[in-house]
Amino acid sequence: MDPLLDFTGKVAVITGAAQGFGKLLAEELAKRGAKLVISDIKDDAVQAVAKAISATGAEVIALASDVSKNDDCKAMVETAVKNFGRVDIGVNNAGVAHEFMPLHDIDESIMDSQFAINVKGVQFGMRHQIQQMLTQGEGAILNVSSMAGLNGAARGSAYAMAKHAVIGLTKTGAVEYGRNNIRINAICPFFTLTPMVTNFADEVQQQKMSRGAPMHRLGEPKEIVAMMLMMLSPANTYMTGQCIAIDGGVSAQ
Ligand SMILES: NC(=O)c1ccc[n+]([C@@H]2O[C@H](COP(=O)([O-])OP(=O)(O)OC[C@H]3O[C@@H](n4cnc5c(N)ncnc54)[C@H](O)[C@@H]3O)[C@@H](O)[C@H]2O)c1
Repeated sequence: MDPLLDFTGKVAVITGAAQGFGKLLAEELAKRGAKLVISDIKDDAVQAVAKAISATGAEVIALASDVSKNDDCKAMVETAVKNFGRVDIGVNNAGVAHEFMPLHDIDESIMDSQFAINVKGVQFGMRHQIQQMLTQGEGAILNVSSMAGLNGAARGSAYAMAKHAVIGLTKTGAVEYGRNNIRINAICPFFTLTPMVTNFADEVQQQKMSRGAPMHRLGEPKEIVAMMLMMLSPANTYMTGQCIAIDGGVSAQ
């Protein structure tokens, strides 16, 4: 296997792995030799993902887990350490969008759920992954932010708030733990055709959304996951604190 993408023996924990980016990333890492602890709030679906991956011969454990609960995030790391001895890779991917609406219509319940899942969920994941990585003297964390974490997102202000916070956690973590050889980066996709988008936007709406991108189309999940793999590559050893847009050119405008 090309050493750039050889994850043999690496242990990865991935949240939100029942579908979308998390599921595809789990499959791609397993194909390249990683051992996995995957979790999702959708228990049956994440168990099914694990079953399919383990049928290929890879080692994978699935947990039902709500990232807004600190103890659930702790349990993921404990499970990885108990079964596989370490955590090389932490991917804090679970997240939720909210209905598009103007900022002045966003109520407290939307603010609370965005903060609980998209912000606290990432920090809870990071804190337990980092505690383990400090004992190992190395590790790589990838947080999933968004284009909405880099710029204003019309009618998506609570989501944008949360995804900006993910960038704050990513950059600060990189600065705090660089000396400990823990790399912490974030990926910032534009609209991509995972269930988060396809379950809520029909083809006409998707067409409208794609007009914002110079490439005039939305992202494919495999295009985002390809960059996630590259950012997590064991050969990518000097990159930390970066928040990389994968956006069909949106941020270049
Ligand atoms: N698809 C896009 O257009 C897009 C763009 C930018 C960023 N993102 C981000 O990418 C990440 C993955 O999203 P996706 O596009 O694959 O969407 P998705 O909805 O297909 O997958 C998200 C997964 O997270 C899980 N989840 C939700 N709340 C959870 C919780 N409290 N605890 C544990 N798991 C939970 C869901 O059950 C689901 O399986 C999210 O953080 C999302 O905000 C998506």
